[in-house]
Amino acid sequence: MNSRRDFLKQISTAALVAGAAPSMLTWALPQGQSVEVPGEDGMILRSFRFVDLETPVEYFNTWLTPVPHFFVRNHMHEPSELDARNWRLALGGEVEKPLTLSLAEISKFETHSVVNTIECAGNGRSLHRPQVPGIQWGKGAVSTARFSGPRLLDVLQRAGVKSTGKHVMFRGLDEVPGKVPPFIRSIPIEKALDDDTLVATHMNGSPLTKHHGFPARALVPGWIGAASCKWLTEIKVLDAEFVGNFMSPGYRFPNQLVQPGDAVKPEDTHVLTGLNVKSVISGPSDGASLKTKTGKVVVHGAAWAGEADIAKVEISTDGGATWSPAKLGHEQAHYAWRLWSYDWKAGKSGDYTILSRATDSQGRTQPSTAAWNPSGYLYNAVDQVNIHVS
Ligand code: MTE
Repeated sequence: MNSRRDFLKQISTAALVAGAAPSMLTWALPQGQSVEVPGEDGMILRSFRFVDLETPVEYFNTWLTPVPHFFVRNHMHEPSELDARNWRLALGGEVEKPLTLSLAEISKFETHSVVNTIECAGNGRSLHRPQVPGIQWGKGAVSTARFSGPRLLDVLQRAGVKSTGKHVMFRGLDEVPGKVPPFIRSIPIEKALDDDTLVATHMNGSPLTKHHGFPARALVPGWIGAASCKWLTEIKVLDAEFVGNFMSPGYRFPNQLVQPGDAVKPEDTHVLTGLNVKSVISGPSDGASLKTKTGKVVVHGAAWAGEADIAKVEISTDGGATWSPAKLGHEQAHYAWRLWSYDWKAGKSGDYTILSRATDSQGRTQPSTAAWNPSGYLYNAVDQVNIHVS
C-alpha cells in the first residue's frame, strides 16, 4: 500500500493530468469530413455528444486492460473542473452521523483492491435483432482493471447506518445538459456492505483518470457498469430504492422472455444487477484470411460471468456441431474475466465459422440467441467469427 504522502502526491499529479489537454481522436464521417474529440488512440468512438469509447476486441489480450484502452461510458458531460483539494464526499440519509470527507480523509481508510471486469449493460446492443435504439455498442464495452480504495462498508460505518437504511444511493458530479436527469442510482444495502464494494480512488495502481471517475467512484463488482457511479460526490442511505430515470425506465430487464420486437410494461420489469455469463473471441478477427503451412490456428478471447466464476469455455470450429474445451488462463480473480485460448488444427483450406461458449459456476451457459429486450441490455449470445484458412 502507498504511504499517505505518496497517495496525495499521486493525486495532485492526477489533478493536473485531469485538467490537461487530452489526446485527440479523429472520427471519420461517411462524407469524408472528420470530427476531433478527446479520447485515446485506437478506441472506437460510439458517440461524440458525450465521450463513449469502445475497446476493440483485439485489445482483450491482457488480463488487466491498460487504462487508455479501458472502455468509457458517459451519459452526459464529464465534470469540467475537478480539483482534488476542493473535492468532498458527503454521506447522509439514514445514518447516525452525517459527514463530509476530503480526499485526504478518504486516503486514511484501509485500502482494499478488487480486480473487476466492468461491462456496460448495453454491451452488444448492436447485435440484437430487431435492433433497438441506444448507443450501438459492438462487443467491447467491457474491460478489466484492479480497483483500489476504501471499502464502502468502512466509509458507511464511519457515519453509522441506521436500521432503517435499506438502499445506498450514489450521485455523480456529471454536468447535466438541459433536461437530462442527473446520474443517480442506488444499490441494496447488502451489496453496499459487501467486503468487495469500494469507494475506488485508484485503477491499475494509479489514481483514477478523469474518464473513469477521478477522484473517486463506486465500484460494485460483478454488477452492470451503471452501478459503479463515477465522480462520486454524495452517498445517501435510503429506506427504499432510489426513484429516478437511471433506475426506471433505465437499466431494467423484462421479468419474462419477450418476443423480439414486443413492447414490455414497466411493471413487468426489474432493476438490472449482476452480469450474464459471456465469452468473446478476440482473435482471429471476424473476416480474417489466414495463411498457414501447418494448419495451426490459435483461437483466443475472454470470458466473464459477473458474480459467478467461469467454469469452462468451449470452442466449435464446425458451426456448432461439436465442441472442445479451451484452455483457461492462469490469471483469475472472483469478479474478473478469464482469458482463454484454443489450439486448433484446421484440416483443409476453406471457410470456417468459429464459435465460443462459456459456462459458469452457477451452471449458466451462453445461449445461441440472446434474450431480446426493448433496451438491448445484457446481450450474451454464443460468440462467432467467420474466417478463411488457406
Ligand atoms: N457514473 C456517472 N457519474 N455518470 C455516468 O454516465 N456511466 C455508468 C457508470 N458510472 C456513468 C457512471 C455506466 S453506464 C458504465 S457502463 C460505467 O460507468 C462505465 O465505466 P467506465 O467509463 O469507467 O468504463
